[in-house]
Amino acid sequence: MYEIPQASAEQLSFQQIGKYSEQLPNTMILAINERAEIIQCNSLFLKETGYTAADILLRSIQVITDSERFSNTETEGSAALEQFQQLSVEPFPLALNKASGDLLRVTCMPILNKAETGGNYMLLLLHSLEPLSGGSLVQQFGETMLSDDHIGVILLDRHTRSIIDINPLASQLLGFPKTSIMNEILMKFFANAPNEYALICQSLDEGIPVRNYPLTWIFEDRHTELLMDVGLLHSPPGGVAGAYIIFKDVTNLRSLEKQVLRSDRLAMIGQVAAGAAHEIRNPLTAIRGFVQIFRKTTIERGMNKEAEYTEIMLVELDRINELVNEFLMLSKPRKTMNEWVNVESVMREIMPIIASEGLLYGVTVSWTSEGQLPFVTADHEMLKQVYLNICKNGIEAMTQGGELTIKGYTAGEGKERSLVIDFTDTGPGILESIIDRIFDPFVTTKANGTGLGLSVCQRIMHDFGGSIRAVSTEIGSCFTVDLPY
Ligand SMILES: Nc1ncnc2c1ncn2[C@@H]1O[C@H](COP(=O)(O)OP(=O)(O)OP(=O)(O)O)[C@@H](O)[C@H]1O
Ligand SMILES: [Mg+2]
Repeated sequence: MYEIPQASAEQLSFQQIGKYSEQLPNTMILAINERAEIIQCNSLFLKETGYTAADILLRSIQVITDSERFSNTETEGSAALEQFQQLSVEPFPLALNKASGDLLRVTCMPILNKAETGGNYMLLLLHSLEPLSGGSLVQQFGETMLSDDHIGVILLDRHTRSIIDINPLASQLLGFPKTSIMNEILMKFFANAPNEYALICQSLDEGIPVRNYPLTWIFEDRHTELLMDVGLLHSPPGGVAGAYIIFKDVTNLRSLEKQVLRSDRLAMIGQVAAGAAHEIRNPLTAIRGFVQIFRKTTIERGMNKEAEYTEIMLVELDRINELVNEFLMLSKPRKTMNEWVNVESVMREIMPIIASEGLLYGVTVSWTSEGQLPFVTADHEMLKQVYLNICKNGIEAMTQGGELTIKGYTAGEGKERSLVIDFTDTGPGILESIIDRIFDPFVTTKANGTGLGLSVCQRIMHDFGGSIRAVSTEIGSCFTVDLPY
């Protein structure tokens, strides 16, 4: 039921009536105030008369009926409403002017009500004397479609391009209650989707239906992936009289599709990386061996400068080796140890490393756990690597110093129970442009970064049946790592 926008005295006491009025299948409802202005109506009323809510709200009831019964209400206010009620104990016939100019004959049952905040208002229950636009089995089928909440349905008039009817899911998509949409032009709600609007108009004009047209509907930051059909309704002498638009929400399907694509891509990167890594490692071993021999010789001959160079070469070679190992980690099926791991002891081992790294960046690091943490089935060394990587990222993000807070706790029950560790930093948060890809390999914003850290972490956690999620705000990022136990 549509209520007038500003908080009026009458409005409060309508709330319950408003709720039920939309559920009455055959009763049109109007409410008028002491000045005989229409202050409420239900959507059946709009549907049967063709008005929009904006056309009639706060307008005199005489806009929609020529009946003399209401003529003195406007001037005499509350007293007139009471008098009106006394005269009208029985329902009386009334002719309503529809938006089209035709008449709709109804019986009208007035009910006088006291507003909770004082004053009177009158409810008019209207029953059409003509068959409502519903009745035959086919029409009932139409009505059922219009109440289905799995698909969105909009009925359109061809000539006015206005919305004749709409179901709950579609009005939810458009972002307005049904009573604010009925009989309004479609254009009003498709301002952000001009291409789709043009397509619908073209379909109406040329009489060609649209099938499974994919679109992303955006309303107030909510993205919904839809498939749209436009079907045509023909009038008996031929020609298109209107159309129905059907939306199917396929958001879940689309994100599944994206996930499949992503894992395909990762698998391919993995294969390439594994091949390349293997080929790089062999010559690397040879080079490293010779450099070691050089180093020994240079030291023996007192060639200090050269000895220093070979030292640097070895360090750099080890860096390459580490990188190559990480490639292999990403791709090759590895032997992981499935042992009982005490996460508290993992944290105890890495805390000194993290704390000293933190010192470099002016970051204070704290670790707390809620009670005794359970043991998990994992690999001690690999868990260390995951936690270290995430801490390192957090510390590196806080270039101006800050706090890295690590918290361990348990969550969920039964099969769902897990050991969770939150790593919260007070850095600038993850860059918007990469937030969806931080777990992909080679995604990095750092001059010396490989972009492999998080993808390796994720791979490891998946191997142990766990997961990593990231949440980012302007006051920092939080990485949540969980493991089943
Ligand atoms: N705590 C964090 N705060 C802000 N951004 C982060 C955070 N953690 C990760 N990122 C972003 O995600 C990117 C990818 O991280 P990842 O660990 O995979 O690679 P990297 O840190 O750039 O390189 P590497 O780990 O090899 O040094 C980072 O470059 C950074 O932009
Ligand atoms: Mg990293």
